[in-house]
Amino acid sequence: MQETSQNVTKMTCTAPVNIAVIKYWGKRDEELILPINSSLSVTLHQDQLKTTTTVACSRNFQEDRIWLNGKEEDINQPRLQSCLREIRRLARKRRSDEGPSNDISLSHRVHICSVNNFPTAAGLASSAAGYACLVYSLSRLFGVDGELSVVARQGSGSACRSMYGGFVQWKMGERPDGKDSLAEQVETENHWPELRMLVLVVSAERKPVGSTSGMQTSVETSKLLKHRADSVVPGRMEEMISAIHRRDFAAFGELTMKDSNQFHATCLDTYPPIFYLNDISRRVISLVHRYNHYYQETRVAYTFDAGPNAVIYTLQEHVPEFVQTIRHFFPPETNGEEFVKGLSVDASSLSEELKRVIGMEPVPRGISYIISTKVGPGPCVVDDPNLHLLGPDGLPTKSS
Ligand code: DP6
Repeated sequence: MQETSQNVTKMTCTAPVNIAVIKYWGKRDEELILPINSSLSVTLHQDQLKTTTTVACSRNFQEDRIWLNGKEEDINQPRLQSCLREIRRLARKRRSDEGPSNDISLSHRVHICSVNNFPTAAGLASSAAGYACLVYSLSRLFGVDGELSVVARQGSGSACRSMYGGFVQWKMGERPDGKDSLAEQVETENHWPELRMLVLVVSAERKPVGSTSGMQTSVETSKLLKHRADSVVPGRMEEMISAIHRRDFAAFGELTMKDSNQFHATCLDTYPPIFYLNDISRRVISLVHRYNHYYQETRVAYTFDAGPNAVIYTLQEHVPEFVQTIRHFFPPETNGEEFVKGLSVDASSLSEELKRVIGMEPVPRGISYIISTKVGPGPCVVDDPNLHLLGPDGLPTKSS
């Protein structure tokens, strides 16, 4: 809900994280953020992972300002500037078409304050939720509609997919101006209620190469990436959409794993090579394949982004046993914080035969914790005025 007091108008919204099952890697236009292939993701539920953003505007503000997770950041970053400029342009266009829908002047400066409900150390692509939330909040503040995923895309490519809930594709488009490079919902968040995601947070020693610079080097040096974008992804997009429509977990899971593996193969084919997976990531990959082999079906699937954390896709019925399998092969600290966060997971026991068939040496503390979640909705407006992150003076409240 929009709220105005002491000449400060505020709007607070939340937006979700998404995890790609067909990966985006490589741009054909760095400035507009136009990809070399289409991609597809699942939106994670905001009860477990979300960004909250308050945007405020007032004639008393001297300049645009932004605070991220409690720290003031540089508002002049080009990607932030692109999003602000595009939203103001859409707002101006709407006003010239329909007249002002509210009394906010477009010449007023904005203050932006954003926080995540998950640790940045979890290594999840927080930029996707962050830019989606920024663009959605500004659009609600200024009262603009239009193709908002095109605006979010200019903040961070993967952010365009966080503008919708459920299963979302980012169509690469063809136009040089990027107007057709946008996100579309493939199925809603209610389509496949049994689907579950487990984020396995791996303790990493170093910060990996960022995706923006990593994919740039890949485009410059990897022939495998070009082959992937031109000849592999188009077919996979169709297969993946069909598997989702049919709720065919075996087809969905297998393609998810193959696409993650090919993305990491293009990283290895990049020169100099980029390594995102570590020893624990590779052990998770082996464990998943051995687990599926034991049951002679694809019950669990892994995917990895630009870091060592695994995201596991599975069905609700398999969650308890698979979590117990992780607990067995990566024994957590017993006195530490809870190992499984998010949706609660029932206790389960493992057969001696399953342990024997998997046959791996346990690695204590290899996985720090698990976030258990499901498919969720797109960005939402927060109605409770007590939850604004900016106070009446337009500065961050103590809790933000
Ligand atoms: C591996 O969207 O973070 O997570 O567009 O440069 O901001 P920029 O990159 P970003 O890249 C995400 C890459 C990925 C795969 C994916 O989410 O599709």
